[in-house]
Amino acid sequence: MSASARNQNCRPPRWDSRRAVQAEAAAPEAASAGSPRVEKVNLAEKFARFSAHWTPKVVGELNGQHVKLAKLLGPFVWHHHESEDELFLVVKGRLRIDFRDKTVELEPGELLIIPRGVEHRPVADEEVQVLLFEPASTLNTGNVQGALTAEHLEYL
Ligand code: NI
Repeated sequence: MSASARNQNCRPPRWDSRRAVQAEAAAPEAASAGSPRVEKVNLAEKFARFSAHWTPKVVGELNGQHVKLAKLLGPFVWHHHESEDELFLVVKGRLRIDFRDKTVELEPGELLIIPRGVEHRPVADEEVQVLLFEPASTLNTGNVQGALTAEHLEYL
């Protein structure tokens, strides 16, 4: 198969930037009306903009998911998420996550994915900075409503 034939037969994968170029070519008026924003996010700069604990801030959105930053201190509430898996990536500090049958300690640069339905309790003995990645519908306290529930998230 020649290179050109291969190019015609194989669609680039979803993440391939050529697809965006093809879409623009097909609808130039749509592309010029509002190009998608491409902007880097500096985590340190975002973390410097808030100090409250257990109040996740949204710093990005993709594919129906939110990228959130949060500062944690002290014990959170035991909860689970009925239909969302959660990702915790520790940026600064040490985070303990209790499960009913074990405890996981996370250091900066480590991440943990908590499958839906699994009961958990984050505990931060010192202030911890985390990045969360989860569906936009995810409520921080999951199935438990209380003082720590953050319903309306601020965008930074
Ligand atoms: Ni949770």
